Amino acid sequence: MIILAIETSCDETAAAVVKNGRDVLSGEVFSQADMHAIYGGVVPEIASRNHAATIGKLTELAIENAGISKSDIDAIAVTYAPGLIGALLVGVNFAKGLALALDVPLIPVHHLRGHIAANYIAFPELEPPFLCMIVSGGSSLIADVQSYTDIKIIGRSRDDAAGECFDKAARVLDLGYPGGPALDQLAKSGDKTLFALPRPMIDGHPYDMSFSGLKTAVVNIVHNAEQKGLALDKASLAASFSAAVSDILVPRVVTAAKEFGHKKIAIAGGVAANSQIRTDILNAAQQHGFELYIPPLDLCGDNAQMIGCQGYYEYLAGARAGMELNAFATMDVG
Ligand code: KG4
Repeated sequence: MIILAIETSCDETAAAVVKNGRDVLSGEVFSQADMHAIYGGVVPEIASRNHAATIGKLTELAIENAGISKSDIDAIAVTYAPGLIGALLVGVNFAKGLALALDVPLIPVHHLRGHIAANYIAFPELEPPFLCMIVSGGSSLIADVQSYTDIKIIGRSRDDAAGECFDKAARVLDLGYPGGPALDQLAKSGDKTLFALPRPMIDGHPYDMSFSGLKTAVVNIVHNAEQKGLALDKASLAASFSAAVSDILVPRVVTAAKEFGHKKIAIAGGVAANSQIRTDILNAAQQHGFELYIPPLDLCGDNAQMIGCQGYYEYLAGARAGMELNAFATMDVG
């Protein structure tokens, strides 16, 4: 079964062709990051306009690079939630038009389920059940992936997402947008023990997380140094910050995997590219005897291959949408 997948939930326009769920025939991504960088973050209206300008050409490219013709497409999968509403609507309406024109089924796909599915592409042998940590610009979740389409949330951030926290900390350190990768790079030359930063617990909710206090702590350290005219060891602050985020995430994932009886742990989302988190979770998995699945960097960020993959499993589970399909800025992954 050949699925053409469309992803436009934030500032990456993406189209891909995926065969039988895991065989990626093509995957095209147009990142708008440079267009948003001068504003210090994603401007929703600019994102929507660029999706509209790009999606047609990108889809043609995905079809061409897959070596297929439009008549080979059996279904269209599209991200319909969560994300920027205007951005999502561009992809959803484009997908509706294609499904109508080609007379093939339309499959709605939840963006975060797509992030989980990036692991199925990277690891052909991986099957549920497993525990998955999903850390992106908009979400931080620990999920019990019981089957391809049966996903339960065990823990979530009560405030900022991990990626949001990386981007805000990077902004105050003058690292530009998107700040996560730049902060990650800077942290490599720093001392992660130099700054004592908070690792909050939430009473009675061992798997829930909070990142806003950590973000505020970094902002206060930077402002304090600026006001006093003191030199700041930015690399060590970046390293201490990355270590704190990792310490909030990794031990929770390990404890949850034990409590919920999982042998396999996967990670997903843009923040899963972070080198401190990757190192810590690898060490923890080895120490506690878990099988660990870490997708390659290009599958951690937003892409349409993961939407095509998850779309296949949603299709097998009976998911279909009609021309009334709407987009939703928020939606629970379960
Ligand atoms: O999954 P993603 O591409 O988009 C969403 O679905 O949100 O995640 C984007 C987030 C941004 O906040 C970005 O700064 C962060 O992932 N990110 C990183 C790294 N690479 C991307 N954060 C920390 N370290 C990285 N290496």
